[in-house]
Amino acid sequence: MDRADVHLLGTEEAALGQYGPTGRPLPAFPEPAPLSEHGPARVIAMCNQKGGVGKTTTTINLGAALAEYGRTVLLVDFDPQGALSVGLGINANELDVTVYNLLIERGHDINEMIRPTRVSGLDLVPANIDLSAAEVQLVGEVAREQVLARILRPVLDRYDVVLIDCQPSLGLLTVNALTAAHGVIIPLETEYFAMRGVALLVETIEKVTDRLNPRLQVDGILATMYDGRTLHAREVVESVVGHFGDRVFHTVISRTVKFPDATLAAEPITTYASAHQGAAAYRQLARELIARGGAP
Ligand SMILES: Nc1ncnc2c1ncn2[C@@H]1O[C@H](COP(=O)(O)OP(=O)(O)OP(=O)(O)O)[C@@H](O)[C@H]1O
Ligand SMILES: [Mg+2]
Repeated sequence: MDRADVHLLGTEEAALGQYGPTGRPLPAFPEPAPLSEHGPARVIAMCNQKGGVGKTTTTINLGAALAEYGRTVLLVDFDPQGALSVGLGINANELDVTVYNLLIERGHDINEMIRPTRVSGLDLVPANIDLSAAEVQLVGEVAREQVLARILRPVLDRYDVVLIDCQPSLGLLTVNALTAAHGVIIPLETEYFAMRGVALLVETIEKVTDRLNPRLQVDGILATMYDGRTLHAREVVESVVGHFGDRVFHTVISRTVKFPDATLAAEPITTYASAHQGAAAYRQLARELIARGGAP
């Protein structure tokens, strides 16, 4: 297959040829072996201070795909918008206690906050607008950057993966997520200004690594909302690969209305439209992450 043509294909079709949509030879990502026991969890923060790049969509669907592969997954909604909770059918505005209470008040146990979702193996700690006050309230706390890490500790043994859906900012909540994490995944919308702000994000990650959390790694950059029919999208992916090299996931998430549709149905795409290429793409991302050592 001609390399130029491959760009026109989605990730699934490209898997049959030599090159993936990122213009590099596409490795095979094998079906992950089942785990004989669960935990300790690898914690991953989904992070980009730019809004609307696919953080929440990736948290839900990567989480659901990992759960399909038998991994026990905890999703943490760490955005006062509560889109992760809503996207999984939890009306967090009606909840009295959420991740906010865990952060700010003593005497709560994270186990009380964990809710099962309709996907087996996929649990959620919800958030709602209350969380917007935490940023200010945490400022005066001792070890204010380590509060989330401390909260998560009691359940790390039960889960294989914890995914934290960050809000679009680089404030104290996001620093807490990076401090609690082993890895960070950076979703980038495939459009011309995708890289705007990424230098600041990388700088923040480096500061957290230096000062708070030396184990933190960038697990990967994920191109989202990709439209392979446009030269523009192909050029953006090329420039992202030119900049970040192997840190860019081979898996690319195409733009499709099935994602907002699934959100409205409050389901991951993997159950809402299981046979759709968008579901296949997130399953491939789960396999790629496992193959890279980013998840057990
Ligand atoms: N691959 C995709 N194709 C089409 N639409 C998508 C795709 N991924 C996400 N969307 C839609 O784009 C919007 C933003 O996505 P999402 O909420 O995941 O981004 P976000 O980075 O979490 O945003 P925020 O910064 O506000 O938290 C949503 O309406 C979502 O349904
Ligand atoms: Mg979001």
